[in-house]
Amino acid sequence: MITFSSLPELRRRKSEKWRRFPADVLPLPVAEMDVEIAPAIKSALIDMVERSDTGYLGLIPELGTAFSSFAMDRWGWQVDPTRVRVAVDVGVAAIEVSRLFVNPGDRILVNSPVYQNFYTWIKELHCEMVDAPMIEIERDGIRTHRLDLEGIERAYASGVKVHILCNPHNPLGVIFTREELSTIADLAHRYQVLVISDEIHSPLLYNSSEFVPFLSVSEQAREVGVAVTSASKAWNLAGLKCAQLISASERIESKLRLLPEAVHFRTSLFGAIAAVAAYENGREWVNELARDLDRKQRLLNDLLHQHLPTTYLHKPFFGYLGWVDLRSSGLGTYGPAGKGFVRFNFGTSDEIIIEAIDRMKKVVGH
Ligand SMILES: Cc1ncc(COP(=O)(O)O)c(C=O)c1O
Repeated sequence: MITFSSLPELRRRKSEKWRRFPADVLPLPVAEMDVEIAPAIKSALIDMVERSDTGYLGLIPELGTAFSSFAMDRWGWQVDPTRVRVAVDVGVAAIEVSRLFVNPGDRILVNSPVYQNFYTWIKELHCEMVDAPMIEIERDGIRTHRLDLEGIERAYASGVKVHILCNPHNPLGVIFTREELSTIADLAHRYQVLVISDEIHSPLLYNSSEFVPFLSVSEQAREVGVAVTSASKAWNLAGLKCAQLISASERIESKLRLLPEAVHFRTSLFGAIAAVAAYENGREWVNELARDLDRKQRLLNDLLHQHLPTTYLHKPFFGYLGWVDLRSSGLGTYGPAGKGFVRFNFGTSDEIIIEAIDRMKKVVGH
């Protein structure tokens, strides 16, 4: 069963979401959910604490096996368990992999408006950010976005070394088709660009069969791609610190062998064991959560229509982050490319969503 915590319980949490703002603020920008974690994960962690199993992370072959089985079951994606590596989080995974392919001053491509930390990762690498912004379109009567494949090709041709692809795309809430991803793989192959496919939100698709893992699309994708992911978003485990890096070709594997050993050892044992529990025994739980989040995005959409008709929720296809157009109010921003928009975290109780809309109504007006 999925349970979202009450506000008094949440205020006792010590995480960033509940410490960053004054007590009277509903902290919806931070991407943590207010859900109680899956029972299978809770008992795995309690078991470790009870046995004082709190040391360093060493060999963890069960994580590769668990991820591989999850990927096959969910998406029909064949992952070699021995090619699943760990890093402390997705940010570190993306940075450490990029380091193997770039020198300071090189250029890295993103598709804005995108998860803000992509910019901080690029800065940390002392690289230059290049953007091929997502294109706003209308499809079947809804406003959505698509990749600018021509813009991506121009960027590749201009010499970018790495493309950090947010697949599926946060904050726009869109998923990519096999055709789009195949085109990216072909182009990256032609121009020798490394594609880092950040798939952290992928277990939370409302319709799980729609997700296309980048490395599953073609031989070209496997030659140019690394997938980075984690159980941290879908099972709400960000504080436990364990991400996965997946490669699927000898070309990429030979590079990843150059990763410093510390990338593995800095990862948390708790995070790794929690990830194993999530991928092995948290499947039903995550399915139920995804169904509930789909219902919540409809609730959010209805509330916005009713109380703030000048705003617009871009329908998300996964997860708990809604891209809300507030341009008509002159408020809101999510980085320079997201001016006039807010990212609304609806991974919380219905009561808090309703209260948040009520507060927004008082500010944005009628
Ligand atoms: C696309 C994307 N990548 C990475 C992260 C962060 O992952 P981690 O905490 O493992 O670095 C987030 C968090 O919201 C995200 O949305």
